[in-house]
Amino acid sequence: MNRPYVFCHMMCALDGKIMGDYMGTPQGRAAGDAFYDIAFGEEPFYHHQGWLSGRVTTDDNFTFYRKPDLDEDAPAVPAGDFIAQPDFGMFYVSVDPHGKLGWKSSTLRYVDTTAHVVEVLTEQVGNGYRAFLRKLGISYIIAGETELDHGLALSKLKEEFNIETLMLGGGGVLNWSFLQAGMCDEISIVLAAAADGSPDTPPVFRAAEGISESKALGFTLKEAKAMDDGAVWLRYGVNR
Ligand SMILES: NC(=O)c1ccc[n+]([C@@H]2O[C@H](COP(=O)([O-])OP(=O)(O)OC[C@H]3O[C@@H](n4cnc5c(N)ncnc54)[C@H](OP(=O)(O)O)[C@@H]3O)[C@@H](O)[C@H]2O)c1
Repeated sequence: MNRPYVFCHMMCALDGKIMGDYMGTPQGRAAGDAFYDIAFGEEPFYHHQGWLSGRVTTDDNFTFYRKPDLDEDAPAVPAGDFIAQPDFGMFYVSVDPHGKLGWKSSTLRYVDTTAHVVEVLTEQVGNGYRAFLRKLGISYIIAGETELDHGLALSKLKEEFNIETLMLGGGGVLNWSFLQAGMCDEISIVLAAAADGSPDTPPVFRAAEGISESKALGFTLKEAKAMDDGAVWLRYGVNR
C-alpha cells in the first residue's frame, strides 16, 4: 500500500495516562517540552509533514466542542474529496467520521507550528457539513462509508498532500484503532516521571466499541533514552 510512514508520538504518565494533573508537575512539564521538541522542535527527529488526531482531541485543543455553523440549504457540493491547499507543507488531520467539529479557520497554530486543517470524513457526512468546510477553505477526504477506512485515509494523505511521514497524535482511541488496523509502524512515548492516579483520564491506547478490538500486540524496543527531569523516551517497532 502506498501510505506514509506512521509513528505514534505521545507523552504519558508512569501509569500510561495522556491527560491529567501530572502534566503540571515539574516532571510533567519537562516531559511535555521533550515531547514537543522531538516532533516539532528546531531539530525534529521524524521530520513529519502532518499529524493526525481523533475528534475528541481536536475538540479539547482546537474547536472546543463548538457546533459547526451549518447551512442545511447550501447548494449541493461536488461528490468526493476537497483539496484546498495541497502544498501547505504541514497538515493537521482530524478524524471526524460524523462531521461534528466546529472549525473557525482553515489553519491552526500549535505552539510555534502552523498547519492547514484536513478533515477525514466518511460518506455519511451530509452536504451541509461539506459545504461548511468548503466555505472555510478546509480540505477534506472521504475514507469509508460509515466506518473509517484507515488504509484509504492514509493513501489519500500521501497522494493528495505529499505526506511521507505522519505522526499519529492521539488520543488513545485513535491510536489503538490504527494499531489494530496494522497501520502504525512505530511507537514513540515520552514517559513523564509523574502520575496523579486519576480514575477518569484516558490512556495512551484504548479500544472503543464499534471502532476497534482489544487484541493484544507486541512491540520491539528500538531505543530507550533518558531525558531531563527523569523522563524517558521510548521507541518501539510494532510486531506484525
Ligand atoms: N498526552 C498526549 O500526548 C496527548 C496527545 C493527544 C491527545 N491527548 C488527549 O487525549 C484525550 C482524547 O483521547 P480519546 O482517546 O478520548 O479520544 P480521541 O482518540 O482523540 O478521539 C476519539 C474519537 O475520534 C473519532 N475516531 C477516532 N478513531 C476513529 C476510528 N478509527 N474510526 C472512527 N472514528 C474514530 C471518533 O469520533 P466520534 O466520537 O465523533 O465518532 C472517536 O470517538 C484528550 O483529552 C486529549 O487532549 C493527549
